[in-house]
Amino acid sequence: MFARQRRAIYEPAEDSHLLSEFVKKLAFGKVLDVGTGSGIQAFEAAKLKKVRSVLAADISDEVIRHLKNKINKKELNSKIKIINSDLFSDIKGRFDTIIFNPPYLPLDKREPLDSRLATTGGKHGYETLHRFFNDLNDHLTKNGIALIVFSSLTNKEKVDEFIINSGFTFEILKEEKVSFETLYCYKLKRNWLLSDLFDKNIVNIKELMKGHRGIVFTGIYKNKKVAIKSQILNLRTTTIDREAKLIVKLNKSKIAPKILFSGHNYFVYEFVEGELVIDYLKHASKKMVKKLFLEVLRQCRVLDKMHITKEEMTNPYKHIIVNKRVVLIDFERAHYDSFPQNVTQFCQYIMKNKDILKCQKMNIDKEKLIRLARQYKSRQTKENYNKIKGLILAL
Ligand SMILES: Nc1ncnc2c1ncn2[C@@H]1O[C@H](COP(=O)(O)OP(=O)(O)OP(=O)(O)O)[C@@H](O)[C@H]1O
Ligand SMILES: C[S@@+](CC[C@H](N)C(=O)[O-])C[C@H]1O[C@@H](n2cnc3c(N)ncnc32)[C@H](O)[C@@H]1O
Ligand SMILES: [Mg+2]
Repeated sequence: MFARQRRAIYEPAEDSHLLSEFVKKLAFGKVLDVGTGSGIQAFEAAKLKKVRSVLAADISDEVIRHLKNKINKKELNSKIKIINSDLFSDIKGRFDTIIFNPPYLPLDKREPLDSRLATTGGKHGYETLHRFFNDLNDHLTKNGIALIVFSSLTNKEKVDEFIINSGFTFEILKEEKVSFETLYCYKLKRNWLLSDLFDKNIVNIKELMKGHRGIVFTGIYKNKKVAIKSQILNLRTTTIDREAKLIVKLNKSKIAPKILFSGHNYFVYEFVEGELVIDYLKHASKKMVKKLFLEVLRQCRVLDKMHITKEEMTNPYKHIIVNKRVVLIDFERAHYDSFPQNVTQFCQYIMKNKDILKCQKMNIDKEKLIRLARQYKSRQTKENYNKIKGLILAL
């Protein structure tokens, strides 16, 4: 992309020609050309027999006016329709081929305003592409592909990371050096997880959180918000299938978010609305803190009786979601254990929170709690458990 394009309608440049080379080869079925500009990609696609229809979209009113004029002059093939849309915002339905030559350059204040819309992707250059990847899944047919082009000035590592984190795989179709930059033309497809979730009718899939091993997405399934936990793609070993089995078992005792179904290396479970315990404790009243501790202790006791240690209960700051319910999450490290440690680990957490407790004028007798936890550790009886519960109740 030559940065200084002075017109609002982007005149086809090297990036356009590189992309159209692959549009001619690969476009098929129902086609969407995002950011159509001069319409070059849409025209090329419409010429192909294997292309049924083309929707040419652009955010710029000027582009839309210009293309509509072309239609009136009957230069445009009847296969093509035109729509004004900010990326996918006004696009309905799914497409076999989605083409996008985005604005991909980092912001350069010397760039005239009228050409910025066509060339500047945001402060770093990759922002518009990032938004595009976020919604791509909901607009591709089952075997749909996306064809994109961008430049070395866009930050290739970031673009690759966004593609992978939004659940796609890419193939570099061609790299081309032009004066100050290298252009990349990519073909994108859904990865195994998104393909599987497509078959299960889960839509609106968005990355929620990326952990050390796992990646959690949210999505909509049968009109309800769900969470999807999967492994990070390039990990060889996975604990996901084991975690899914364990949660199914725990669900019978109403522990953990309810699993709806699971597949190889992922599971889909209820999305729990609420606050993480770390945030909840910052504003909870004395009554609320007490209720929370008692409920977590109760669930820890159930786990102990099942001979399962959840682990990380000494510091469960992001593994307890609090709302009307209290839900423990992340059973990745949970395991069967002849000396389960949930109650005792949670007692340690309570002791660590003594500053918060003090603020609420809840003076915990630390020595006593340690003694009772030790007693419980050596004999996990109902009586010993009730003594711990009694101490919390009396706070
Ligand atoms: N069912 C759910 N409902 C709501 N939020 C969830 C749900 N599952 C996970 N989360 C959110 O995603 C975050 C990560 O989830 P989880 O701890 O299970 O993933 P992880 O890959 O094991 O992460 P880490 O490596 O940090 O332990 C949680 O802290 C929580 O904020
Ligand atoms: C680099 S030009 C590409 C034009 C043409 N497709 C080509 O290959 O030559 C980028 C185009 O994207 C459009 N555009 C910029 N931001 C957009 C957005 N958020 N949604 C839709 N189109 C956008 C611009 O108006 C411009 O026409
Ligand atoms: Mg974890």
